[in-house]
Amino acid sequence: MKKLCLGIESTAHTFSIGILDFQGNVYSLINDIFIPEEGGLHPALVREQHLDNFMQIINKALSEAKISIHKINLIAFSQSPGLGPVLKIGAWVARMLSQVLKVPIVGVNHCIAHIEIGRLKCNIKDPLTLYVSGGNTIVSAFESERYQIFGETLDLAIGNMIDSFARDAGLQHPGGPKIEKLAIKSNNYIPLPYVVKGMDLSFSGLYTAAKYLLQSVDYGNKYNLNDVAYSLQETAFGMLTEVTERALAHTEKKEVLLTGGVAANQRLQSMIKSISIEHDARFDVVPLKFAGDNGAMIGWAGILRYKAEGGHNISETMIKPKERMDKITVPWRS
Ligand code: ATP
Ligand code: FE2
Repeated sequence: MKKLCLGIESTAHTFSIGILDFQGNVYSLINDIFIPEEGGLHPALVREQHLDNFMQIINKALSEAKISIHKINLIAFSQSPGLGPVLKIGAWVARMLSQVLKVPIVGVNHCIAHIEIGRLKCNIKDPLTLYVSGGNTIVSAFESERYQIFGETLDLAIGNMIDSFARDAGLQHPGGPKIEKLAIKSNNYIPLPYVVKGMDLSFSGLYTAAKYLLQSVDYGNKYNLNDVAYSLQETAFGMLTEVTERALAHTEKKEVLLTGGVAANQRLQSMIKSISIEHDARFDVVPLKFAGDNGAMIGWAGILRYKAEGGHNISETMIKPKERMDKITVPWRS
């Protein structure tokens, strides 16, 4: 009988359950995504939706996997980082299931899970990873026992920045895919602030400048929304590419992994692919089903930790909204 893990993702907009075996075969993955009617993510509203729906999502995942809940051998949940009120729901559901079913529980760092599902699904051993999502912008690689952070944003995350700009332009959340479609229609580059400080990035100046372009007298005259979308992407992705390339030259890794929700963007994929080729590194993108937030990646990172050092005690399962991935040991890679 194969051992099975139920993974619970609950860090932000997505409550997701993934069921997989200890070899990494995924039997089901069910997502429930909070989409704000207007504005950004309000933690209290997200929490209410997740609280209303969690049992239904668990039941759907079990029925898609065609298993009874009593066949589950391990519960994994996203313990860090994320929105406190939302993380608490996943932690609460996980603690309850672990105690009712009398199976071990393991807390997982969400950022490490994004990398581990990429290593599994792309069959990559030791990548330099560019992890780009609504809440994170991180260039990371395994070195000295940890997933070290070589570069990161100093202010806004790339996905959040694009979504905010899209909202200002009157587009509905999530803006990333819509901006990508508009950008394809232009090649009129309008210079925008390109801010790389050392190995870190800053997107707030870029965001403000792009927003002002929408209000300028030249808008709708010398340039249109397609042109601003194009310029925003070229500038932001150029910054990401520069930092990724420098980290690649420094670490001399031979594999590059692109993950997180923004990894869906084909322009970004082609830019990161081209620097990978220049450095003789293999490039891969996490399959889109597993690139955004999902319970399967939490399950897989939980399985890896559990196999290496067993489960957590209940007293160790408190949420850690601010925990950085480079503070955590990864015994399965050491
Ligand atoms: P995290 O908790 O890891 O920060 P998240 O909560 O933002 O993740 P994800 O599903 O990983 O969730 O990423 C969602 C982000 O991906 C949104 O900002 C969305 O606009 C962006 N995105 C999705 N598709 C595209 C695309 N084609 N181009 C650019 N951005 C995209
Ligand atoms: Fe994520």
